[in-house]
Amino acid sequence: MLILGIETSCDETSAAVVEETGDAARPWTIRSNVIASQVPIHREWGGVVSELASRQHIRDICGVVERALKEARAGWADLGAIAVTQGPGLVGSLLVGVSFAKAAAVAAGLPLVAVHHLAGHIESLVLQNGELPLPAVVLVVSGGHTSLYLVDRPGHYALLSRTRDDAAGEAYDKVAKLLGLGYPGGPVVDRLARGGNDRAIALPTTRLTHADRNAPELKGDLDFSFSGLKTAVARYVKSATGSHPMSETEVADVCASFQRIVVTGLLDRLFDAARRYQARSIGVAGGVSANSRLRAELDARGQRREMPTFLPSLTLSTDNAAMIAAAGIRKFRAGVTASLDLNADPALAL
Ligand code: KG4
Ligand code: ZN
Repeated sequence: MLILGIETSCDETSAAVVEETGDAARPWTIRSNVIASQVPIHREWGGVVSELASRQHIRDICGVVERALKEARAGWADLGAIAVTQGPGLVGSLLVGVSFAKAAAVAAGLPLVAVHHLAGHIESLVLQNGELPLPAVVLVVSGGHTSLYLVDRPGHYALLSRTRDDAAGEAYDKVAKLLGLGYPGGPVVDRLARGGNDRAIALPTTRLTHADRNAPELKGDLDFSFSGLKTAVARYVKSATGSHPMSETEVADVCASFQRIVVTGLLDRLFDAARRYQARSIGVAGGVSANSRLRAELDARGQRREMPTFLPSLTLSTDNAAMIAAAGIRKFRAGVTASLDLNADPALAL
């Protein structure tokens, strides 16, 4: 079976065709994965402007879907279902994908599958690497989310912890803004950090030990927090630039020191959780999983502890529709489809 995936939750318009292989260990393969990025549009404003994002999705969606079908050498009649991101994300952006998917499902007489964006990120790991040894602990770390999940059986995602404030990618974007490095911040901070001293600046690590009043069902000690770190960087930058503009070396040192704290904080919790839940594998997905230090340290720590670790390719790390199609097939095969009164849900829970 072929499935068409559609993703419009933030600032990428994407459509993909994914095929079932019939191989239980490597269940899916990508036939096409077209991504129209809006980064150049939002860069001018220093971040994603939601109204501009939804308007651009409207301009791009038809062409992106047509190209995904063409590259996959598939027509509407070859498809078995359409999967679309229902949420979470920007409501105006989500609505473009959901409306398009509903219209296409009616016109082509195809079943519709509603996908949670983070289930897509988790399934990007399976799309890339085949089924993970379960139970797996998976960290989804992006511009909007930093959440840890236990996957004890395929398609079942139990939330273990999440950030109490900023997402890790959001912290990257804010730090880049403070340093005048532009949007999005992750790739540029990552690049500059490679030339800096990661011990040059003392920045705080946050370790939460108490439950969150807003989520008492979670123990809370695996939760993340990045707003204090961002504030510490802001304070440092303000004091450093009081007397002179920051040199390139100083900027690189800030990037490296910040990145060390973020990556260590993410991986410490991830490996703690793996031990606590006796995981047989570890995965990291989402935009920040493209980070070079995170990728290298995940690999090194996994080898030291003889724990298999998994990452998506760089293309599958950031938002894309192939991962939505993959999560959609999983749900479709579990017998779950959506009705035509499906609505976008910007705060959808997983
Ligand atoms: O998953 P994604 O494309 O969109 C969301 O669902 O949020 O993630 C985008 C985020 C941005 O915050 C961006 O700065 C961050 O991922 N990012 C990175 C890197 N590449 C992208 N963060 C750190 N290092 C990178 N190399
Ligand atoms: Zn995402």
